[in-house]
Amino acid sequence: MTDGVERTVVVAGAVCHEGRLLAARRTAPAALAGRWELPGGKVEPGESPEHALTRELREELGIETEPLERLPGEWQLNGRLVLRAWEVRLLKGEAQPLQDHDAVRWLTSEQAFDVDWLEQDIPFVRDVVARLRSY
Ligand code: CDP
Repeated sequence: MTDGVERTVVVAGAVCHEGRLLAARRTAPAALAGRWELPGGKVEPGESPEHALTRELREELGIETEPLERLPGEWQLNGRLVLRAWEVRLLKGEAQPLQDHDAVRWLTSEQAFDVDWLEQDIPFVRDVVARLRSY
């Protein structure tokens, strides 16, 4: 998806299930390998962000999900890419690192900051962890 200034949106999912948040460890690019993220990816031309998120989570982790609400804020990754995040509900499946990741963890709110998150994901993690107990 591009907006008026031709930015591509990267969508990230804060997948919540039974009081835990899903974190995934990236394998690429080299600069980001080993860092943990809210999984997601780029929105394709003509695609809605919610559709992109559902698609990326299915492709990368083999799970069926439903985006709930967008988390506040956004992060300009570079001149062209902007990161936005959604709170997401797990509907079906067991998260597996099928592509782009080599590990996944389901973190309780107490463990939420035990992993080395990409800096730009941290505000979203903070926000969603405050809501985790409602799952
Ligand atoms: O897989 P795809 O090429 O669609 O996208 P990606 O490589 O997963 O994400 C594009 C860029 O967004 C990455 O290089 C990361 O810098 C950034 N990203 C992020 O900062 N935080 C996330 N939770 C997901 C992606």
